[in-house]
Amino acid sequence: MRYMIYGALFAALLPMAAHAEGDAAAGEKAFAPCKACHAFGKNGVGPNLTGVVGRKAASEEGYNYSAALKGSGITWDEANLHEWLKNPKAKVPGTKMVFAGYPDDKKIDDVIAYLASKK
Ligand code: HEC
Repeated sequence: MRYMIYGALFAALLPMAAHAEGDAAAGEKAFAPCKACHAFGKNGVGPNLTGVVGRKAASEEGYNYSAALKGSGITWDEANLHEWLKNPKAKVPGTKMVFAGYPDDKKIDDVIAYLASKK
């Protein structure tokens, strides 16, 4: 009985810990266009995104970032990621990430929830 209660509590708290609003499963689908350039666990055209939520921008070792992103001083919390994914070039003028951005806020929150699940 006790384990059932703990289990239920854990199941209720887990999604909150991952993200307040976004849906990681939907975010995985919304991440499809990102895969052209990004992987988890290794750098590609774009930097490795494992553990990116909470990380300092342009801090992935071995990746050749633009001067713009290196000098941005950004830490990738959810608010900064949201602005970035809405319009990368507005958030960091001069970035070399060639992605127009997602106009849909829900989609962005879902992608961030998915990124947060990749630790
Ligand atoms: C056409 C290739 C391309 C696509 C598509 C793309 N990115 Fe990127 N991304 C890059 C490049 C290149 C950089 C490095 C930018 C720089 O140095 O200015 C980057 C940087 C980033 C960073 C900052 C990482 C860090 O270490 O500071 C995040 C976060 C990110 N991309 C997320 C995404 C997500 C999420 C998507 C899909 C919604 C996406 N990107 C789509 C190429 C791409």
